[in-house]
Amino acid sequence: MIFKKRWSVEKGKPLTEMDKKILAAQKSGHIVPTRKLIKTPEQVEGIRASGVINTGILDMVEKEIREGMSTLELDDKIAQFTADHGAVSACLNYEGYPRYSCISINDVVCHGIPNAKTILKPGDIVNVDVSTIYNGYFSDASRMYIIGGETTPEKQRLVDVTLECLKIGIETAKPYSFVGDIGFAIQCHAQKNGYSVVRELCGHGVGLEFHEEPEVSHFGRPKTGMMLVPGMVFTIEPMINMGRKEVHFSREDGWTVTTLDHLPSAQWEHTLHMTENGCEILTH
Ligand code: MF3
Ligand code: CO
Repeated sequence: MIFKKRWSVEKGKPLTEMDKKILAAQKSGHIVPTRKLIKTPEQVEGIRASGVINTGILDMVEKEIREGMSTLELDDKIAQFTADHGAVSACLNYEGYPRYSCISINDVVCHGIPNAKTILKPGDIVNVDVSTIYNGYFSDASRMYIIGGETTPEKQRLVDVTLECLKIGIETAKPYSFVGDIGFAIQCHAQKNGYSVVRELCGHGVGLEFHEEPEVSHFGRPKTGMMLVPGMVFTIEPMINMGRKEVHFSREDGWTVTTLDHLPSAQWEHTLHMTENGCEILTH
């Protein structure tokens, strides 16, 4: 039997500092990336350009989103902006997904399908998630929007703490740290605030495809999961529930995920590039 190492160095080739760190981790039983997950500078440049358009979409949403609008109207604007900038939605037709974005309101955790019947109301907390393909490169981000600019103190705090969870995850993701370090930090912050972390959905590698290795869970134990190495590109996208962590997957539309207890849920997402000095946010 042969054991296939995820990381190897060509015979006769001198080891770089990066090779040494990865090989040492692999030897001690850690999961390390494959070379394919380390993007070249040209690839990072491509993903960065995709991220600029993705950010432009979410900025446009910030200006356009308002009460009385259907989620379909907002999705139409996203479709138009995406096309105007020479990009393509990664959501459309992804495993049969029918629209250009995911719009998830209050107790909808994620993957809300834009439709004409769902009308935005004052005080709704709304996640808009867009994934963009530009020149073949993928970026992925989402933000929370508060309809009418004001909601209940409880929902406002959920939105704020969820953003803190994303920021803490980003700060925790240092070169040669582990995916489990991110999850642990996020879980601690959420639970300290009386909230729970959704288990069934996670962040992911991204860039050359929509969803790549590794899975980035938003809960976990330090020093577990894949090592994060300079050149990797991945998302962090915590879904934080006000109440219980359990979710329900719609059997009707095959997509919509809601909280089981129908209490609100929030999510923020960025695409990140690991560098020698920490994460560069590609969707700012
Ligand atoms: N944008 C989601 C993510 O963050 C994936 C949505 S898949 C879709 O990974 F098909 F619903 F768009
Ligand atoms: Co994502």
